[in-house]
Amino acid sequence: MTDRQPIPMTAPAGVYRQRRARLAATLKRPLVIFAGHAPARNYLKNPHVFRAGSSYRYFGGPPLENAALLIESNSDGDSGCVLFRPPAGPSTALWVGEVAVDEDLAAAAGLRRDALADADQLETRIAGRDAGYVTPPFTDTLAWIDRLGLQPSNEDELLAIINLRLCKDEHELAAMRRSAEITMEAHRAALAATKPGRREADVAAAFHAVLVARQCEVSFNPIITIRGEVLHGLGHSNVMSEGDLLLVDAGAEEPSGYASDITRTFPVGGKWTPIQRHLYETTLRTLNEATAACVPGRRFRDIHDLAARVICAGLVEAELLRGDPAELAARTAHALFFPHGLGHLIGMDAHDMEDFGDLAGYAPGRKRRPEFGNAYLRLDRDLEPGMCITIEPGIYMVPAIWKRAELVTPLADVVNRPKVDALLKAHFGGIRIENTICIRAAGGPEVLSAALLTDADEVSACVGVSVDQ
Ligand code: GLY
Ligand code: MN
Repeated sequence: MTDRQPIPMTAPAGVYRQRRARLAATLKRPLVIFAGHAPARNYLKNPHVFRAGSSYRYFGGPPLENAALLIESNSDGDSGCVLFRPPAGPSTALWVGEVAVDEDLAAAAGLRRDALADADQLETRIAGRDAGYVTPPFTDTLAWIDRLGLQPSNEDELLAIINLRLCKDEHELAAMRRSAEITMEAHRAALAATKPGRREADVAAAFHAVLVARQCEVSFNPIITIRGEVLHGLGHSNVMSEGDLLLVDAGAEEPSGYASDITRTFPVGGKWTPIQRHLYETTLRTLNEATAACVPGRRFRDIHDLAARVICAGLVEAELLRGDPAELAARTAHALFFPHGLGHLIGMDAHDMEDFGDLAGYAPGRKRRPEFGNAYLRLDRDLEPGMCITIEPGIYMVPAIWKRAELVTPLADVVNRPKVDALLKAHFGGIRIENTICIRAAGGPEVLSAALLTDADEVSACVGVSVDQ
């Protein structure tokens, strides 16, 4: 037995060297990529879990708080790269155990042993040169950056990082599959824990238990609620009753940092009402048609619009809307029921690279559309093999939408308002079904979460039932 903890990395060392070399080839000045540090709760000595910045990890940074990776513009991924790591103090081992030794760090990062330096050497190495930085948001690394006189990374530097991170290689994809597997296991535990009379918190506990046992973190705050119409509702205090729909939108982040994001909705008590079933099956049809359209070269915004048409068709069948589905979608009538985007990039971040704003999600020259609903679309790129994205259509009865005259009045001629009001009064809630997928060159996308039930009959047969996997 050794005290040395394994360093969770995604790829072999040579892959990190290659990624750094590719980035360096685009750089006109050195770039320092920071790991960040753990957020503290209430007082500094009460830190929460540390998660190193995604770009830092992508280029081979081992998860070390307050570390930084310097990449010189003439680097070949090996020479011209330095990992600056905080030196361990005399009491470090007492409180947190032995820290990783340089030999292991260098081997994991694909660096030579002499490419590791103490963090306070970064200043000397930069020595007043023009250099850019990338740092995870919401850390106070900024004070350090300020002292070093680093400049925020410019658009060219960010686009170079984005272009590398956008399409996942085989190592990343393997990590994403692991993350999806664990998330599906947690979702099955959540489904089994759902019973009338229990609280949402009981389901959340079942979900978290799987992640904890698998040494995973959540990739975002889980949404586990019978108030699914609150798109990012985070409370778990409701008691679930027969007739409610429970929406579970939650994902794992596996130890090397890759995320999953999966949503399932099921009837508490196992029985769908006719309207629940119809709108669920409409959502599922939308998921399936949109997924089938996810082929290289296809513009994601067009797939969002396709989803809007399929949802409108289902809403017409349900007599909630009147008219031609394509015309209704062109008027954004879907947004009254489906007010968010069809999906987003996913990778090391649940919304991958959203710390770069829309630079990652939107292809150069593309901008968000202004109208309600479509404006929330986070992705408008032409799909490429290796891109990992989510597909997450939904149908909701949101009181907060139906109170907004500026949204509802222009569409009053196509809405069956008495039927909408009846569903609002009955607290219909919301339905969302979400898969994490990877675009492939041929044969349609790989659906990483395909093994998790979506069929309405199968779902209703499994609610509240423990199943051996
Ligand atoms: N699954 C939560 C989100 O995509 O925002
Ligand atoms: Mn999502």
